[in-house]
Amino acid sequence: MRLNLDYSQLKQNELNQKEYQKKVRDIHFKLHNLDKTYGTTWVDWPIVYDKKELLNIQKIANQIKENKSTLLIIGIGGSYLGAKAGIDMLAKKSSCEIVFAGITVDYTDLAEKLDELKNKDVYVNVISKSGTTVEILSTLNIVERFMKNKYKIDYKKRMIYTTDKNKGFLREKSIQDGIETFTVPDLMSGRFSVLSAVGLLPFAVAGISVKKMLEGAEKAYYDFSIDDIEKNLAYKYAIFRYLINKKLGKKLELFSTFSCKFYSFGYWLQQLFCESEGKDGKGLFVNPLSFSTDLHSVGQFIQQGSPIFAETFIHIKNLSKDAQISNVSLKNPIKFLDGKNMSDLYTAAYDGTIKAHVDAKVPIAIIEIDEINEFNFGYLVYFFEVACATSAYLLEVNPFNQPGVEQYKSYLKKCFKD
Ligand code: PA5
Repeated sequence: MRLNLDYSQLKQNELNQKEYQKKVRDIHFKLHNLDKTYGTTWVDWPIVYDKKELLNIQKIANQIKENKSTLLIIGIGGSYLGAKAGIDMLAKKSSCEIVFAGITVDYTDLAEKLDELKNKDVYVNVISKSGTTVEILSTLNIVERFMKNKYKIDYKKRMIYTTDKNKGFLREKSIQDGIETFTVPDLMSGRFSVLSAVGLLPFAVAGISVKKMLEGAEKAYYDFSIDDIEKNLAYKYAIFRYLINKKLGKKLELFSTFSCKFYSFGYWLQQLFCESEGKDGKGLFVNPLSFSTDLHSVGQFIQQGSPIFAETFIHIKNLSKDAQISNVSLKNPIKFLDGKNMSDLYTAAYDGTIKAHVDAKVPIAIIEIDEINEFNFGYLVYFFEVACATSAYLLEVNPFNQPGVEQYKSYLKKCFKD
Protein backbone atom coordinates (compact mmCIF):
# COMPACT_ATOMS: atom_id res chain seq x y z
CA MET A 1 0.00 0.00 0.00
CA ARG A 2 1.25 3.48 -0.84
CA LEU A 3 0.02 6.84 0.47
CA ASN A 4 0.53 9.84 -1.79
CA LEU A 5 -0.07 13.27 -0.24
CA ASP A 6 1.44 15.30 -3.11
CA TYR A 7 -1.97 16.80 -3.89
CA SER A 8 -3.02 17.37 -0.27
CA GLN A 9 -2.83 21.20 -0.57
CA LEU A 10 -0.76 21.00 2.61
CA LYS A 11 2.95 21.57 2.92
CA GLN A 12 5.21 18.74 4.06
CA ASN A 13 6.12 20.62 7.25
CA GLU A 14 2.44 21.13 8.06
CA LEU A 15 1.92 17.38 7.91
CA ASN A 16 4.79 16.69 10.23
CA GLN A 17 4.68 19.39 12.88
CA LYS A 18 6.11 18.60 16.30
CA GLU A 19 2.82 19.31 18.09
CA TYR A 20 1.16 16.44 16.18
CA GLN A 21 4.02 14.09 16.93
CA LYS A 22 3.40 14.58 20.65
CA LYS A 23 -0.37 14.12 20.25
CA VAL A 24 0.12 11.04 18.09
CA ARG A 25 2.45 9.50 20.70
CA ASP A 26 -0.27 9.91 23.34
CA ILE A 27 -2.86 8.38 21.01
CA HIS A 28 -0.47 5.54 20.19
CA PHE A 29 -0.06 4.85 23.88
CA LYS A 30 -3.85 4.76 24.35
CA LEU A 31 -4.36 2.39 21.41
CA HIS A 32 -1.63 0.00 22.50
CA ASN A 33 -2.36 0.10 26.21
CA LEU A 34 -2.96 -3.35 27.67
CA ASP A 35 -6.10 -1.96 29.27
CA LYS A 36 -8.69 -2.32 26.48
CA THR A 37 -11.53 -0.57 28.30
CA TYR A 38 -11.43 2.33 25.82
CA GLY A 39 -12.71 -0.13 23.19
CA THR A 40 -9.37 -1.13 21.70
CA THR A 41 -9.65 -4.94 21.53
CA TRP A 42 -9.36 -4.66 17.72
CA VAL A 43 -5.83 -3.20 17.94
CA ASP A 44 -3.87 -6.43 18.52
CA TRP A 45 -6.66 -8.67 17.22
CA PRO A 46 -4.70 -9.72 14.07
CA ILE A 47 -2.14 -11.29 16.45
CA VAL A 48 -4.30 -12.60 19.28
CA TYR A 49 -7.53 -13.62 17.49
CA ASP A 50 -9.13 -16.83 18.71
CA LYS A 51 -7.49 -19.56 16.58
CA LYS A 52 -9.78 -22.27 18.00
CA GLU A 53 -12.87 -20.32 17.07
CA LEU A 54 -11.50 -19.81 13.55
CA LEU A 55 -11.23 -23.60 13.09
CA ASN A 56 -14.85 -23.93 14.13
CA ILE A 57 -15.88 -21.13 11.78
CA GLN A 58 -14.16 -22.96 8.93
CA LYS A 59 -15.87 -26.23 9.89
CA ILE A 60 -19.36 -24.66 9.82
CA ALA A 61 -18.53 -22.78 6.59
CA ASN A 62 -17.46 -26.05 4.92
CA GLN A 63 -20.72 -27.66 5.98
CA ILE A 64 -22.67 -24.81 4.33
CA LYS A 65 -20.46 -24.93 1.23
CA GLU A 66 -20.78 -28.71 0.83
CA ASN A 67 -24.51 -28.40 0.22
CA LYS A 68 -24.09 -25.30 -1.99
CA SER A 69 -26.57 -23.68 0.39
CA THR A 70 -27.64 -20.04 0.51
CA LEU A 71 -26.53 -18.14 3.60
CA LEU A 72 -29.03 -15.57 4.81
CA ILE A 73 -27.21 -13.02 6.97
CA ILE A 74 -29.26 -10.90 9.38
CA GLY A 75 -27.24 -7.92 10.61
CA ILE A 76 -27.04 -4.13 10.37
CA GLY A 77 -24.39 -1.37 10.66
CA GLY A 78 -21.09 -2.77 11.86
CA SER A 79 -22.67 -6.23 11.93
CA TYR A 80 -23.21 -6.08 8.17
CA LEU A 81 -21.17 -3.48 6.24
CA GLY A 82 -17.75 -5.10 6.63
CA ALA A 83 -19.02 -8.52 5.56
CA LYS A 84 -20.78 -6.96 2.56
CA ALA A 85 -17.60 -5.04 1.62
CA GLY A 86 -15.44 -8.19 1.69
CA ILE A 87 -17.98 -10.35 -0.13
CA ASP A 88 -18.56 -7.82 -2.92
CA MET A 89 -14.81 -7.50 -3.35
CA LEU A 90 -13.60 -11.09 -3.02
CA ALA A 91 -16.36 -13.74 -3.10
CA LYS A 92 -15.67 -16.60 -5.46
CA LYS A 93 -18.28 -16.81 -8.23
CA SER A 94 -18.60 -20.56 -7.74
CA SER A 95 -19.27 -20.28 -4.01
CA CYS A 96 -22.50 -20.11 -1.99
CA GLU A 97 -25.07 -17.42 -2.55
CA ILE A 98 -25.20 -14.85 0.26
CA VAL A 99 -28.33 -12.81 0.95
CA PHE A 100 -28.55 -9.94 3.46
CA ALA A 101 -31.62 -9.12 5.57
CA GLY A 102 -32.26 -6.98 8.65
CA ILE A 103 -30.72 -3.93 6.97
CA THR A 104 -34.10 -2.34 6.42
CA VAL A 105 -37.62 -2.33 7.83
CA ASP A 106 -38.95 -2.52 4.28
CA TYR A 107 -41.15 -5.60 4.83
CA THR A 108 -41.75 -6.07 1.09
CA ASP A 109 -38.01 -6.59 0.66
CA LEU A 110 -37.95 -9.25 3.39
CA ALA A 111 -41.04 -11.03 2.02
CA GLU A 112 -39.54 -11.11 -1.48
CA LYS A 113 -36.23 -12.44 -0.20
CA LEU A 114 -37.96 -15.22 1.74
CA ASP A 115 -40.04 -16.05 -1.33
CA GLU A 116 -36.82 -16.48 -3.30
CA LEU A 117 -35.45 -18.78 -0.59
CA LYS A 118 -38.47 -21.12 -0.51
CA ASN A 119 -36.93 -23.65 -2.88
CA LYS A 120 -33.31 -23.25 -1.83
CA ASP A 121 -31.22 -24.91 0.82
CA VAL A 122 -30.86 -22.24 3.52
CA TYR A 123 -28.66 -21.49 6.51
CA VAL A 124 -29.08 -18.33 8.61
CA ASN A 125 -26.39 -16.28 10.38
CA VAL A 126 -27.78 -13.69 12.79
CA ILE A 127 -25.13 -11.12 13.72
CA SER A 128 -25.70 -8.65 16.54
CA LYS A 129 -23.16 -7.55 19.13
CA SER A 130 -25.79 -6.22 21.55
CA GLY A 131 -28.27 -8.96 20.72
CA THR A 132 -31.02 -6.41 21.22
CA THR A 133 -31.24 -4.43 17.93
CA VAL A 134 -34.90 -4.14 16.93
CA GLU A 135 -34.40 -4.49 13.16
CA ILE A 136 -32.45 -7.69 13.77
CA LEU A 137 -34.69 -9.37 16.33
CA SER A 138 -37.87 -8.57 14.38
CA THR A 139 -36.32 -9.99 11.18
CA LEU A 140 -35.13 -13.04 13.14
CA ASN A 141 -38.67 -13.56 14.44
CA ILE A 142 -40.03 -13.80 10.91
CA VAL A 143 -37.09 -15.75 9.49
CA GLU A 144 -37.23 -18.25 12.35
CA ARG A 145 -40.89 -18.96 11.53
CA PHE A 146 -39.90 -19.43 7.88
CA MET A 147 -37.11 -21.85 8.86
CA LYS A 148 -39.37 -23.80 11.26
CA ASN A 149 -41.94 -24.27 8.50
CA LYS A 150 -39.28 -25.32 6.04
CA TYR A 151 -37.13 -27.62 8.18
CA LYS A 152 -39.42 -28.50 11.12
CA ILE A 153 -37.48 -29.67 14.21
CA ASP A 154 -34.14 -29.61 12.30
CA TYR A 155 -34.23 -25.86 11.68
CA LYS A 156 -32.02 -25.12 14.71
CA LYS A 157 -29.09 -26.91 13.09
CA ARG A 158 -29.28 -24.33 10.30
CA MET A 159 -29.22 -21.27 12.56
CA ILE A 160 -25.90 -19.67 13.62
CA TYR A 161 -25.66 -16.67 15.90
CA THR A 162 -22.75 -14.23 16.25
CA THR A 163 -23.09 -12.11 19.38
CA ASP A 164 -21.59 -11.01 22.71
CA LYS A 165 -19.87 -13.71 24.75
CA ASN A 166 -22.10 -13.33 27.80
CA LYS A 167 -24.87 -10.78 27.45
CA GLY A 168 -27.87 -9.90 25.35
CA PHE A 169 -31.07 -11.64 24.31
CA LEU A 170 -29.39 -13.47 21.41
CA ARG A 171 -26.82 -15.09 23.70
CA GLU A 172 -29.57 -16.17 26.11
CA LYS A 173 -31.67 -17.54 23.27
CA SER A 174 -28.68 -19.40 21.83
CA ILE A 175 -28.20 -21.21 25.14
CA GLN A 176 -31.89 -21.95 25.52
CA ASP A 177 -32.30 -23.24 21.94
CA GLY A 178 -28.88 -24.90 21.62
CA ILE A 179 -27.84 -22.77 18.62
CA GLU A 180 -24.24 -22.74 17.32
CA THR A 181 -22.89 -19.34 18.37
CA PHE A 182 -19.75 -17.34 17.62
CA THR A 183 -18.45 -14.39 19.59
CA VAL A 184 -18.17 -10.68 18.95
CA PRO A 185 -15.16 -9.91 21.17
CA ASP A 186 -15.54 -7.71 24.24
CA LEU A 187 -14.77 -4.01 23.82
CA MET A 188 -14.86 -4.15 20.03
CA SER A 189 -17.51 -1.88 18.45
CA GLY A 190 -19.37 -3.25 15.45
CA ARG A 191 -17.56 -1.08 12.92
CA PHE A 192 -14.17 -2.39 14.14
CA SER A 193 -15.29 -6.04 14.18
CA VAL A 194 -15.05 -7.19 10.56
CA LEU A 195 -11.98 -9.35 11.22
CA SER A 196 -13.77 -11.26 14.00
CA ALA A 197 -16.47 -13.93 13.49
CA VAL A 198 -18.74 -11.06 12.35
CA GLY A 199 -16.97 -11.05 8.98
CA LEU A 200 -14.99 -14.28 9.04
CA LEU A 201 -17.92 -16.71 8.85
CA PRO A 202 -19.58 -14.92 5.91
CA PHE A 203 -16.18 -14.66 4.18
CA ALA A 204 -15.38 -18.34 4.67
CA VAL A 205 -18.81 -19.32 3.28
CA ALA A 206 -18.17 -17.05 0.27
CA GLY A 207 -14.98 -19.00 -0.51
CA ILE A 208 -12.69 -16.17 0.59
CA SER A 209 -9.37 -17.10 2.22
CA VAL A 210 -9.71 -15.75 5.76
CA LYS A 211 -6.18 -16.97 6.46
CA LYS A 212 -4.70 -14.63 3.84
CA MET A 213 -6.98 -11.82 5.02
CA LEU A 214 -5.73 -12.18 8.60
CA GLU A 215 -2.14 -12.33 7.33
CA GLY A 216 -2.72 -8.96 5.63
CA ALA A 217 -4.09 -7.54 8.86
CA GLU A 218 -1.15 -8.95 10.81
CA LYS A 219 1.33 -7.28 8.44
CA ALA A 220 -0.59 -4.02 8.84
CA TYR A 221 -0.51 -4.43 12.62
CA TYR A 222 3.30 -4.41 12.53
CA ASP A 223 3.51 -1.62 9.92
CA PHE A 224 1.15 0.65 11.88
CA SER A 225 2.40 -0.04 15.39
CA ILE A 226 5.19 2.53 15.13
CA ASP A 227 4.63 5.78 17.02
CA ASP A 228 6.54 8.02 14.56
CA ILE A 229 4.30 9.96 12.11
CA GLU A 230 6.98 9.85 9.42
CA LYS A 231 7.15 6.05 9.53
CA ASN A 232 3.49 5.29 10.11
CA LEU A 233 1.22 5.97 7.12
CA ALA A 234 -1.97 5.49 9.14
CA TYR A 235 -0.95 8.30 11.52
CA LYS A 236 0.19 10.47 8.61
CA TYR A 237 -3.14 10.01 6.85
CA ALA A 238 -4.98 10.81 10.11
CA ILE A 239 -3.04 14.10 10.34
CA PHE A 240 -4.01 14.87 6.73
CA ARG A 241 -7.69 14.35 7.61
CA TYR A 242 -7.36 16.47 10.73
CA LEU A 243 -5.69 19.35 8.87
CA ILE A 244 -8.05 19.45 5.91
CA ASN A 245 -10.84 19.88 8.42
CA LYS A 246 -9.16 22.25 10.90
CA LYS A 247 -6.91 24.22 8.60
CA LEU A 248 -8.60 24.09 5.22
CA GLY A 249 -12.13 24.09 6.66
CA LYS A 250 -13.37 21.09 4.68
CA LYS A 251 -16.47 19.34 5.98
CA LEU A 252 -16.80 16.41 3.67
CA GLU A 253 -14.42 13.68 2.60
CA LEU A 254 -15.14 11.77 -0.58
CA PHE A 255 -13.90 8.19 -0.86
CA SER A 256 -13.49 7.76 -4.60
CA THR A 257 -12.62 4.69 -6.62
CA PHE A 258 -12.80 3.44 -10.17
CA SER A 259 -12.90 -0.17 -9.00
CA CYS A 260 -16.43 -1.64 -8.91
CA LYS A 261 -15.25 -4.23 -6.42
CA PHE A 262 -14.48 -1.43 -3.97
CA TYR A 263 -17.89 0.28 -4.07
CA SER A 264 -19.22 -1.52 -0.96
CA PHE A 265 -15.93 -0.96 0.84
CA GLY A 266 -16.77 2.76 0.58
CA TYR A 267 -19.91 2.20 2.65
CA TRP A 268 -17.94 0.34 5.31
CA LEU A 269 -15.53 3.31 5.39
CA GLN A 270 -18.45 5.72 5.62
CA GLN A 271 -19.74 3.99 8.73
CA LEU A 272 -16.29 3.55 10.25
CA PHE A 273 -15.46 7.25 10.04
CA CYS A 274 -18.89 8.85 10.48
CA GLU A 275 -19.89 6.79 13.51
CA SER A 276 -16.47 7.11 15.11
CA GLU A 277 -15.82 10.82 14.50
CA GLY A 278 -19.18 12.52 14.14
CA LYS A 279 -19.65 13.70 17.73
CA ASP A 280 -19.74 16.99 19.67
CA GLY A 281 -20.34 18.95 16.44
CA LYS A 282 -17.06 17.66 14.96
CA GLY A 283 -15.79 15.40 12.19
CA LEU A 284 -15.69 15.06 8.42
CA PHE A 285 -18.78 13.58 6.81
CA VAL A 286 -17.62 10.73 4.60
CA ASN A 287 -19.29 9.96 1.30
CA PRO A 288 -18.30 7.09 -0.98
CA LEU A 289 -18.22 7.77 -4.73
CA SER A 290 -18.29 5.25 -7.55
CA PHE A 291 -16.46 6.33 -10.69
CA SER A 292 -16.99 6.68 -13.59
CA THR A 293 -20.72 6.92 -12.89
CA ASP A 294 -20.43 9.69 -10.28
CA LEU A 295 -18.15 11.71 -12.58
CA HIS A 296 -21.13 12.08 -14.85
CA SER A 297 -23.33 13.39 -12.02
CA VAL A 298 -21.86 14.80 -8.78
CA GLY A 299 -18.47 15.38 -10.49
CA GLN A 300 -19.83 18.72 -11.65
CA PHE A 301 -20.44 19.82 -8.04
CA ILE A 302 -17.05 18.60 -6.82
CA GLN A 303 -15.28 20.76 -9.41
CA GLN A 304 -17.42 23.88 -9.47
CA GLY A 305 -19.89 23.78 -6.57
CA SER A 306 -19.39 24.81 -2.92
CA PRO A 307 -15.74 24.09 -2.03
CA ILE A 308 -16.53 21.80 0.92
CA PHE A 309 -14.77 18.63 -0.23
CA ALA A 310 -11.57 16.77 0.39
CA GLU A 311 -11.00 13.47 -1.33
CA THR A 312 -9.36 10.15 -0.63
CA PHE A 313 -8.77 8.16 -3.79
CA ILE A 314 -8.48 4.40 -3.45
CA HIS A 315 -6.64 3.37 -6.56
CA ILE A 316 -6.02 -0.21 -7.61
CA LYS A 317 -3.08 -0.24 -9.99
CA ASN A 318 -3.87 -3.48 -11.80
CA LEU A 319 -7.34 -4.84 -12.37
CA SER A 320 -7.71 -8.27 -13.94
CA LYS A 321 -9.25 -9.47 -17.23
CA ASP A 322 -8.20 -6.63 -19.52
CA ALA A 323 -9.71 -6.26 -23.01
CA GLN A 324 -8.57 -4.52 -26.18
CA ILE A 325 -10.51 -1.85 -28.05
CA SER A 326 -10.07 -2.65 -31.75
CA ASN A 327 -11.37 -2.10 -35.27
CA VAL A 328 -12.64 1.37 -34.41
CA SER A 329 -13.91 3.14 -37.56
CA LEU A 330 -12.51 6.49 -38.67
CA LYS A 331 -15.76 8.29 -37.90
CA ASN A 332 -16.09 6.90 -34.39
CA PRO A 333 -15.38 9.59 -31.72
CA ILE A 334 -13.22 7.06 -29.84
CA LYS A 335 -10.91 6.47 -32.82
CA PHE A 336 -8.03 7.65 -30.61
CA LEU A 337 -8.54 4.50 -28.53
CA ASP A 338 -8.06 2.07 -31.40
CA GLY A 339 -5.64 -0.64 -30.36
CA LYS A 340 -5.60 0.50 -26.76
CA ASN A 341 -6.64 -1.62 -23.80
CA MET A 342 -9.42 -0.87 -21.31
CA SER A 343 -6.61 -0.63 -18.72
CA ASP A 344 -5.18 2.36 -20.68
CA LEU A 345 -8.57 4.03 -20.46
CA TYR A 346 -8.78 3.18 -16.74
CA THR A 347 -5.42 4.86 -16.12
CA ALA A 348 -6.27 7.89 -18.26
CA ALA A 349 -9.65 8.37 -16.55
CA TYR A 350 -7.93 8.19 -13.17
CA ASP A 351 -5.15 10.68 -14.15
CA GLY A 352 -7.71 13.01 -15.74
CA THR A 353 -9.91 12.99 -12.65
CA ILE A 354 -6.98 13.76 -10.35
CA LYS A 355 -5.99 16.68 -12.62
CA ALA A 356 -9.53 18.07 -12.71
CA HIS A 357 -9.88 17.83 -8.93
CA VAL A 358 -6.45 19.39 -8.33
CA ASP A 359 -7.52 22.29 -10.61
CA ALA A 360 -10.60 22.64 -8.41
CA LYS A 361 -8.27 22.82 -5.36
CA VAL A 362 -9.72 19.71 -3.76
CA PRO A 363 -7.18 18.38 -1.20
CA ILE A 364 -6.47 14.79 -2.23
CA ALA A 365 -4.90 11.78 -0.55
CA ILE A 366 -4.20 8.79 -2.79
CA ILE A 367 -4.09 5.31 -1.34
CA GLU A 368 -2.79 2.87 -3.90
CA ILE A 369 -2.59 -0.91 -3.86
CA ASP A 370 -1.28 -3.16 -6.61
CA GLU A 371 -4.22 -5.52 -6.85
CA ILE A 372 -7.39 -6.75 -5.22
CA ASN A 373 -6.90 -9.78 -3.00
CA GLU A 374 -7.60 -11.06 0.51
CA PHE A 375 -4.25 -9.96 1.92
CA ASN A 376 -4.78 -6.37 0.76
CA PHE A 377 -8.34 -6.34 2.09
CA GLY A 378 -7.11 -7.30 5.57
CA TYR A 379 -4.26 -4.81 5.29
CA LEU A 380 -6.52 -1.91 4.26
CA VAL A 381 -9.16 -2.69 6.88
CA TYR A 382 -6.53 -2.46 9.58
CA PHE A 383 -4.92 0.66 8.08
CA PHE A 384 -8.26 2.50 8.04
CA GLU A 385 -9.17 1.36 11.55
CA VAL A 386 -5.94 2.84 12.94
CA ALA A 387 -6.34 6.01 10.86
CA CYS A 388 -9.94 6.42 11.97
CA ALA A 389 -9.30 5.92 15.70
CA THR A 390 -6.35 8.34 15.46
CA SER A 391 -8.26 11.02 13.62
CA ALA A 392 -11.16 10.80 16.10
CA TYR A 393 -8.73 11.12 19.02
CA LEU A 394 -7.10 14.12 17.32
CA LEU A 395 -10.55 15.74 17.34
CA GLU A 396 -10.83 14.79 21.00
CA VAL A 397 -13.88 12.60 20.54
CA ASN A 398 -14.32 8.99 21.67
CA PRO A 399 -14.03 6.84 18.52
CA PHE A 400 -15.64 3.80 20.09
CA ASN A 401 -19.10 4.89 21.21
CA GLN A 402 -22.15 5.86 19.18
CA PRO A 403 -24.52 7.87 21.40
CA GLY A 404 -26.51 9.20 18.41
CA VAL A 405 -27.20 5.70 17.12
CA GLU A 406 -28.24 4.57 20.61
CA GLN A 407 -30.61 7.55 20.84
CA TYR A 408 -32.34 6.53 17.59
CA LYS A 409 -32.63 2.95 18.87
CA SER A 410 -34.24 4.11 22.11
CA TYR A 411 -36.69 6.51 20.36
CA LEU A 412 -37.79 3.66 18.12
CA LYS A 413 -38.59 1.48 21.14
CA LYS A 414 -40.37 4.36 22.90
CA CYS A 415 -42.82 4.71 19.98
CA PHE A 416 -44.27 1.35 21.04
CA LYS A 417 -44.23 1.99 24.78
CA ASP A 418 -45.99 5.38 24.80
O1 PA5 B 1 -20.68 0.07 14.95
C1 PA5 B 1 -21.62 -0.11 15.71
O2 PA5 B 1 -21.43 -0.36 16.93
C2 PA5 B 1 -23.06 -0.06 15.23
O3 PA5 B 1 -23.15 0.36 13.92
C3 PA5 B 1 -23.70 -1.44 15.35
O4 PA5 B 1 -22.93 -2.35 14.61
C4 PA5 B 1 -25.15 -1.47 14.83
O5 PA5 B 1 -25.92 -0.50 15.48
C5 PA5 B 1 -25.76 -2.86 15.06
O6 PA5 B 1 -25.69 -3.18 16.41
P1 PA5 B 1 -25.71 -4.68 16.91
O7 PA5 B 1 -24.58 -5.40 16.32
O8 PA5 B 1 -25.66 -4.57 18.39
O9 PA5 B 1 -27.03 -5.27 16.43
